[in-house]
Parts: sequence; C-alpha cells; structure tokens
Amino acid sequence: SVPVPNVQEMVRKDPLGIPQRYTRTQQEMDNINYMPSLSSDIPIIDLALLSLENQEELFKLDAACKNWGFFQLVNHGVKKEVQQRMKDGAGEFFKLGIEEKNKYAMPCDDIQGYGHAYVVSEDQTLDWSDTLIFLVHPTNYRKLQLWPKTPQGFKERIEEYSSGVRRVGEEILGCLSVIMGMQKHVLPGLHREIVQALRVNYYPPCSMPGQVLGLSPHSDTSTVTILMQDEDVCGLEIRHKGKWVPVTPLSDALVVNIGDVIEIRSNGKYKSVEHRAMTNKKKERCSYASFIVPVDDVVVEPLEQMVNAERHKMYREVRYGDYMRQAFKQKMEGKAHIDFAK
Ligand code: SIN
Ligand code: FE2
Repeated sequence: SVPVPNVQEMVRKDPLGIPQRYTRTQQEMDNINYMPSLSSDIPIIDLALLSLENQEELFKLDAACKNWGFFQLVNHGVKKEVQQRMKDGAGEFFKLGIEEKNKYAMPCDDIQGYGHAYVVSEDQTLDWSDTLIFLVHPTNYRKLQLWPKTPQGFKERIEEYSSGVRRVGEEILGCLSVIMGMQKHVLPGLHREIVQALRVNYYPPCSMPGQVLGLSPHSDTSTVTILMQDEDVCGLEIRHKGKWVPVTPLSDALVVNIGDVIEIRSNGKYKSVEHRAMTNKKKERCSYASFIVPVDDVVVEPLEQMVNAERHKMYREVRYGDYMRQAFKQKMEGKAHIDFAK
C-alpha cells in the first residue's frame, strides 16, 4: 500500500484546508439521492427473541436481510459499560501524539495496525479518516506488536468488547442458518473457524463535509459486520431503493449488516448493501466495525436449498481468500466486489 498523510494531523495543522486529493465531485457525493430517516426507520431486531427462535422475530430478520441488508440489533447482551470502555480506550488512543500512534503504524504489506488500509495508488481519491485494524480471532492471527500499549489496558478492552461481539456474531449466524432452512450450527460450522477482525474508524471534523467522504462507498466482504457507532454524531449512510439513507444511532444498539458471503450463500436473497461514511463539520466521530469471516480456505458458494427453478445459481464458487484478494483489486477500480463471484 501507498503511504498517505495522517488525516487527524492534517486537520490539526490546517482545520480549514481540504487538499485536492480528498475532494470529491458532486456526482461522487451523490447528495441529491439522499433520504432523511429516523433511527426507527431501519429495522430493529431483538437478539434475545431471536435466540429463542421466536417466529415473528425470525420473520423480521428475514425481511431485514432481504429489504435492507442492515438492521439495528437490541438486547444483544454486550453491556453498555463494555461498549463504553472500548470507546474510551480508542478515544484516548486517537488523542495521543502522532509519534506515539505511529509506533503501531500499518506495515506496507499488511492491513493490521494504525494508518490507511486499501490505499494502493498515488492518484486514488482519499478518505477523510484514519483507522486502527486488528485481527482478534483466532488468537494466533494476532500481531500483538501492533496493538497499542497506551492507553493502559486498551488490549483488555478490545478483548472484552470483541468477545461480546463474537458471541453476538455466532448467534446471528445461527439465526441466519435457521431462516435459510438449516439447523443453527450449519452456518457457523461452514466457517471452519470464525475469524474476527476489528476496524476502528476515526473521522476528524471537516470544514466542508459536502466535499469529502469519510469512507468511500463499498460493500463488506465479510459474512456479517457488527458495528458500534458513537451516539451523538451521524455518519453512516446505506443504499436503499437508490437513495442514501443515514443510519441514525440508536442508544446501546449495534448495527448489523449482511456481507458478501451471506449474499453468495443465500444465492442473492439477502443483500450485501453498499454503504459509506460522511464527516461532520464540528465533531469528530468514531465507529467500530467487527468483521466476522470464514478462514481463507473455505469455498463459498450458494447453499443448495437456496437454488431452485425460479432462482438458478447466481454466483460461482470461490475460495474466500481469493475472493478477498480479488475484491481488494476491484476496490481500486471502483467496482462492486460481488460481481467477481457472478
Ligand atoms: C464501515 O463501513 O466500516 C464503517 C462505516 C461507519 O463509520 O459507520
Ligand atoms: Fe463497511
């Protein structure tokens, strides 16, 4: 990857400046296709009810995955204090000086650590954000030298939050199995081992939020993504019926979205929806995305029972590791990943 400026540092030195490399065209911003929403417009799903295999809730899950690809998850069991400790730890980390933060700089051949993943060319338009990425599970995937030692106890906070999210992820996979007509253990088992990564996004304020993107439009290559948002700043927008719809934070809820693996496994019934992040004029914003993915060697293809006379097989089989690599390449060309599997 190509080294690029640290956005937080750039804004600190020149709060009003917006370098050319970050400026988007009106067409890229696509703000005419914007639809305001309330936090209650995105489906809200109760994990406690889902876990009991409550029929009504499973039906809601099915509809949410079909029609939105996103939902707000409540009663998920990740305690407010655990969420807050994670947020406070990350908040303190981003407040550190650049020299301290750069001790954990992302090596050029890796996407773990502090920096900018997916910057691959000198003329790529850049996102208005810095990130901190870790593989958290399985533990032998960890590169602990890239986990910040300051603030103290940050590692334990990441572990505590991530183990809560992991349990939620497994439960969601179980329920997705059920709504696709299988026993609960099938989808988790198809991962061979559940791999979990955490990506913390830091979006500094931007004096002209209408001209930059915090995070370019993309769909997630994951099986599912579980996102924690700050409660007092908006930023996440999702594609819904051709419009960009903001996902207004709902207190304590986690935002869950279907990734490409489920779109493929469900043979297109459930959608891996495009989304992006906007910046804010006055406030910084953090988001915490946990990606649940299979190991590289798993072959991903539509499940047998999702293929029938009306819906023939829409995606070809692909090794997950190859899919990831291809998606990374297509990202540079600005295409949707999922086309590769078709
Ligand atoms: C993401 O897509 O990884 C996060 C978007 C957000 O900041 O809400
Ligand atoms: Fe995403």
